Amino acid sequence: MLLLALLLVLSSGSCIEIELDIECSSCVLLNNICYNVTHLLDLNAPFRNRVVIHKMGILRSENTLFFSFEPAIEDEEYYKIGFVELDNPEISGIISGGPNFIINFGAFDIDQDNGLVYLGGVDGIFVLDTVAKKLTPYSSRGDQITCLYYKNNVYFVRYDDRGIILKRGDNFKTLFEYIPINNFIVTKHDIVVFLTKYGLYVGKGRFTHRVSKNSLFRGLTVDLDGVVYAWWIDGIYKVVIFEKNLEMSKVVKVSHLPSIGAMTFDNDNNVLFTIDRSLYRMTETKYNCTLY
Ligand SMILES: *[C@@H]1O[C@H](CO)[C@@H](O)[C@H](O)[C@H]1NC(C)=O
Ligand SMILES: *[C@@H]1O[C@H](CO)[C@@H](O)[C@H](O)[C@H]1NC(C)=O
Repeated sequence: MLLLALLLVLSSGSCIEIELDIECSSCVLLNNICYNVTHLLDLNAPFRNRVVIHKMGILRSENTLFFSFEPAIEDEEYYKIGFVELDNPEISGIISGGPNFIINFGAFDIDQDNGLVYLGGVDGIFVLDTVAKKLTPYSSRGDQITCLYYKNNVYFVRYDDRGIILKRGDNFKTLFEYIPINNFIVTKHDIVVFLTKYGLYVGKGRFTHRVSKNSLFRGLTVDLDGVVYAWWIDGIYKVVIFEKNLEMSKVVKVSHLPSIGAMTFDNDNNVLFTIDRSLYRMTETKYNCTLY
């Protein structure tokens, strides 16, 4: 028997079987390369019984991980944002509204150059200056923000609205203004990868191309080289973008990883992902890794 079967018992009670090469019982394949999965830490936040983490991102200069999560059901807020210093995990905390001040921060993204974290919730966009440790209103007070991305400017989606709003100074421009958008990222070449109820698309200007009919991808992220990934309940997918020929773009599954919660990339461009409240890192290994 060359294979070991590892049973992961999920908090939901279901069992998922992963078969791993005996030479490395903690390894998984990603992009046909074998990676060792190691447990880094458990995220510390007032989670619900079933832990839901929607998004993770790292403030690179401080190596601080931010994550949006659904807090305990008795909490009046549906969403909050937590953080933990990866080099110093005892330093962690939660950003939230506080008594009589519900903000429901669920959307966020990071301006790495200026150490700013933009946070979106039920009352527009706020900005957290991580150096001055100051949270101030930034834009769109009164609007409910469901998704936010930072690339030179803030891009965001409003609840029950269409398109992606790009804020440039005091001007707002709407991209894909005819489509309700559930999630998105913007590549360094301004190609937008976005999720709607009809699936996953790539688009630029007025051109859009559907790369997958799966409308249930749980999240989108970009690695340090600009490669776009999506994840779903069964693993990690790469969005292969042909910039000159967008209609050739496609999605390929690159790793079978049941029950992945959220993912991002660390400062060495290793995948970080969660299962339940546990945070794992994938590091490349020379061991054999055979998945069936
Ligand atoms: C995987 O990581 C663990 C924890 O760091 C280590 O003990 C183990 O030797 C590693 N295995 C391989 C195959 O690299
Ligand atoms: C991995 O598999 C290849 C091909 O089967 C074999 O040549 C190599 O020795 C194996 N490596 C290890 C570390 O066992």
